[in-house]
Amino acid sequence: MPYDSPVTTTPLDRERIVGKPQPRVDGPDKITGRAKYAYEYHAEAPNPAYGFLLGSAIGHGTIDKIDTRDAEAAPGVRLVLTHKNMPRQGKSDSIAPQYEAAVPHLRGPEVDFFGQSVAFVVADTFEQARAAAYLIRVRYRRASGRFVLAAERQHAGPAPHGKDSVVGDFDGAFAAAPVTIDVTYTTPDHHPSPMEPPASTAIWHGDELTLYTSHQVVHWATHVLAETLLVPEEKIRVVSAFVGGGFGLKLACYGDAILAATAARILGRPVKVALTRPQMYNHTTHRPATIQRLRLGAEADGRLVAVGHDAWSGNQPGGRGENAAEQTKLLYAGANRLIRERFSTLELPPGASMRAPGEAVGLLALECAMDELAEKLGIDPVELRIRNDTSFDPDKGPSRPFSSRALVESLRIGAERFGWSQRNPMPGQVRDGAWLVGLGVAAAFRGNEIRDSGARVRLDGTGRLVVETQMTDIGTGSYTILAQIAAEMLGLPIERVTVRLGDSNFPRSSGSGGSWGANSAGSGVYFACDELRTAIAQKLGFEPATVRFEDGRVGDGARSVTLADAVGPDGLSASGEMKAGDLTKRYAQASFGAHFAEVGVDQATGEIRVRRMLSAVAAGRIINPATARSQCLGGMAMGIGAALMEEQVVDPRFGGFINHDLAEYQVPVHADIPALEVLFLDELDAASSPVKGKGVGELGICGVGAAVANAVYNACGVRVRDYPLTMDKIVASLPV
Ligand code: MOS
Repeated sequence: MPYDSPVTTTPLDRERIVGKPQPRVDGPDKITGRAKYAYEYHAEAPNPAYGFLLGSAIGHGTIDKIDTRDAEAAPGVRLVLTHKNMPRQGKSDSIAPQYEAAVPHLRGPEVDFFGQSVAFVVADTFEQARAAAYLIRVRYRRASGRFVLAAERQHAGPAPHGKDSVVGDFDGAFAAAPVTIDVTYTTPDHHPSPMEPPASTAIWHGDELTLYTSHQVVHWATHVLAETLLVPEEKIRVVSAFVGGGFGLKLACYGDAILAATAARILGRPVKVALTRPQMYNHTTHRPATIQRLRLGAEADGRLVAVGHDAWSGNQPGGRGENAAEQTKLLYAGANRLIRERFSTLELPPGASMRAPGEAVGLLALECAMDELAEKLGIDPVELRIRNDTSFDPDKGPSRPFSSRALVESLRIGAERFGWSQRNPMPGQVRDGAWLVGLGVAAAFRGNEIRDSGARVRLDGTGRLVVETQMTDIGTGSYTILAQIAAEMLGLPIERVTVRLGDSNFPRSSGSGGSWGANSAGSGVYFACDELRTAIAQKLGFEPATVRFEDGRVGDGARSVTLADAVGPDGLSASGEMKAGDLTKRYAQASFGAHFAEVGVDQATGEIRVRRMLSAVAAGRIINPATARSQCLGGMAMGIGAALMEEQVVDPRFGGFINHDLAEYQVPVHADIPALEVLFLDELDAASSPVKGKGVGELGICGVGAAVANAVYNACGVRVRDYPLTMDKIVASLPV
């Protein structure tokens, strides 16, 4: 049954285990190396061969000639695949890897992007495969390509993602508003850069494939493999039991998965492939760059009367752009609205999701524009945001209220805790030795999504509960929070719960993406446990309304038995599923928060150091404050990276990304990250799910970079609208 009416009280509301900072149940396995990642199934994949992918050296054109003779004759080589001998595959109408459709590789002589697979070498060792791959001679015919968003923006058309929001009379209201700003921000291409590269180990047993791979959504992987390899989906088993970071990159299958599976079938031998770090930056997907124009018009008291956001981005044909204007539809009130997204075709490596697609970069523009407006109005930026709060979707009106929305509380509590009242609104006034010091604030917003997600649970004759679902743990804590939910539901200590994840043999799950995972998969486990409770009560003849599950026992009135005795030696199983209903249509649903940053800017060099940060977060029930806090800390680090250092640099000649390792694609390291504080507000949202949570992981990044950029402005009075805020963009304008 779809989840259409919010639950009232549930066993989770007891919060004996849920809501507590439970350490990761998979922590010991990870520390000791028992947790197996996709490349590490040594016993399951004996005597493997190793694949090495050769990527295109041009961005757009065709392969005239490809000579593989030397590679084939090289030591240890078992197979060389190119478009000439690649077996038949399913077709795709997009170059960008689709999440739920065929992802063919080596499909023809056409080169669509730099780093696209042009050959694949399999040998007895990794080193042999790599050496042989570089013996392949490819003669390309280069074509001109569309690589630069700023140049292609003039040819932009409607975006395949998102609908324009046109409410009231924006042009009239903007022209008449007493205070306006009209500013354009740009954000570069970003790469998710997870620590574990995409990796796959493929084994065929007859006509059945097992693929150990690093993927966020298991049933998307089985579907993509079935469509690409032209194999029935029920013959494919995908295992992603541990995933070393995803951030959206692992929502897709890449050459490692498709080519390992193809080669293993041809050779009748397991094949392993891991992308190298440099390969990742062009062969896998990134977050597309954006250009964003913000036009805001306000009354003198700060109330917004005109809200305009135009966002441009680009991708390969058939791909999606970055939906950077999306949050502007829901974050602030304002009667006249014009919010539009536009798309340009680019022949860059394909873009796709990266942590908080849309908001992560949309807020880098909107929340700085709000800071600029606040200054022009002479109103405190916290206060300006509070004055423009709305209790309903401004597009649809009061008939679509927010299910819960604690933006104002987050701003107030965060400001109090951070010492916001100490801020000098005049930039460039506060010094600490050589440092100019400033404070900045930004709102946090992330749309809440719920997806279908199933689970099965089994209580065995010893009173141990086993939970199985396709849900993945991409470092977020899924193993732990699902154990907490199951333990709370059945009144068991958490040590008596085993959670098994990331196997397509288990019930289909939402997987991990878009911050929907904990809430959706947690609800699947909730429903499965609810079924099991009912089955146990029925077996014992207990009243479902009054039955108690606590301390490993089930009771009703004066009767009470252990769960082991209740289910008997054969145990008892149940399944359940979260089916997303219409509550996300009836209610606007989102997580909210507020980020506060203090930065120092070196007055001579323009070097920026973040000195401290605080995030106040309202995301429904926090199932585990320890793992949720880790998600927020990661988001804050990533937001600091987006503000100050992360940029994939486009080579306008060849269409590739020039910087392709962690030395040149810079992300924050420990030395860049100061004291971070995370504050969770009490909130329960039954309209979101029976768990009463909302998405939390990505909220952690949303708005962070803007808080940092606003603090930089407050520190030194230099407003940079072209991310990242590197020293060179600041130093020339510093006050003397
Ligand atoms: Mo996310 S960017 O949907 O993993």
